[in-house]
Amino acid sequence: MKHRLEIETMGKMKVAGPQYANGEITISGSKNSALPILAATILTDEKVILHNIPNLADVNTMIEILENTGKKVTWENSTLVIEKGEEKINSILPYGPVRKMRASFNVLGPLTIRNGYAKVALPGGCSIGVRPVNFHLEGLKKLGIESKIEHGYTNSKFTENNHQKKIHISLPFPSVGATEHLITTAVMLKDTETILTNCAQEPEIVDLCNFLISMGARIEGQGSSNIKIYGTDRLYGTEYTIIPDRIEAGTYAILGAILGGKVTLNNVIEDHLFSLLDIFEKLGIHYEFKNNTLIVSGISKMELTPVDVETSTFPGFPTDLQPQLMVLLSLIPGRSSITENVFKTRFNHVDELNRMGAKIFVESNTAIITGVTKLSGAPLEATDLRASAALLIAALAAEGETVINNVDHIFRGYEKLFDKLEKLNLSVEYFE
Ligand code: EPU
Repeated sequence: MKHRLEIETMGKMKVAGPQYANGEITISGSKNSALPILAATILTDEKVILHNIPNLADVNTMIEILENTGKKVTWENSTLVIEKGEEKINSILPYGPVRKMRASFNVLGPLTIRNGYAKVALPGGCSIGVRPVNFHLEGLKKLGIESKIEHGYTNSKFTENNHQKKIHISLPFPSVGATEHLITTAVMLKDTETILTNCAQEPEIVDLCNFLISMGARIEGQGSSNIKIYGTDRLYGTEYTIIPDRIEAGTYAILGAILGGKVTLNNVIEDHLFSLLDIFEKLGIHYEFKNNTLIVSGISKMELTPVDVETSTFPGFPTDLQPQLMVLLSLIPGRSSITENVFKTRFNHVDELNRMGAKIFVESNTAIITGVTKLSGAPLEATDLRASAALLIAALAAEGETVINNVDHIFRGYEKLFDKLEKLNLSVEYFE
């Protein structure tokens, strides 16, 4: 296999600031679309060809999981070809790859339907907050999958639900992962109509549904909070191109606002970034959309107005851009705030930004941010993917030298990072 990126030891990044961004890059395929779509390839033995797949650590973890099930996976540039292996599909998955990434849990339902049983390690803790899987397991139970948690594994059995041809599941919260997991399982329940209410409406859910439809699934309502699935017992091979990564685009748009110059981002879907662009308008940041290209201009911080932001599910402002936005708000005169409603304790980056001279105070799930005129370089600790991106932007904006320890989290979500930074005229040094 080509292009495999393994992260076993954590590297550091050294950044000399301040730097100014100017240039043009193309946004990669969406990580959070690629992961559930790859999990859904378990539903067929036929060949699936996926285009625009980002070569990221998390995608490679999902490939490792598919290989553990017996699939043959081959990279051809940004295309992945997934084929049936020699043996029958294996539905017992070890702790190793599953522990690395929570999205791997989404293979449980499809594997249980395929083999009648599955044993998948429970994903471990996570630095952005508590991430239980109760919505997944309760929903799967309604779909006829009984699970028992024993010795760190979920042992699941599919007891064919012969009488129930209509199943209704209402999610307690519009969880992205649970919505995806339940859709991916329900599509294979022959002669069963499943209605999911209070679903997540993220573009990645729509992408997953469009992919499943291209395999022969019948799904209605994707992109709304009610989704109807008419199950079948057979899905087919397909060729599909996944959407661009709205969180990568949003990260570079925020970087452009702070460090530009003029930053041009190709392959961006405007509707997917609406909540960020709305905040840009409130702040007074200039941007322009032409076809699928977003151009962001950095302007004088003194002209900007503070804002109060709340994260929420789509179409609200995404939690995955919260740390990056916090860097921007730290540099805007006056008092801004961010209330985190999705992962209520996702504030690991706050202490690090404060070590750079930011003035952020967290009360319950709200960060109160008093703008400062500049940040100063400091040694920092990165704790998760989006916090790493935020610290990198802060380091590029800060005066003096910053060293970001444990920075490799960033490779889980930002493809060709060094290439793209270079194209934006930015330089960083990386050490193993
Ligand atoms: N939740 C439960 N029980 C469950 C599932 C979720 O209580 O069974 C709670 C979570 O604890 C959280 C909230 O529901 O408070 C939302 O979690 P959700 O299930 O929506 O998150 P996820 O599916 O685990 C995906 C993305 C995350 C992104 C969130 C929210 C993927 C692979 N991951 O996670 O992306 O933050 O949705 O939008 O799609 C990232 O890319 O950096 C990242 C963390």
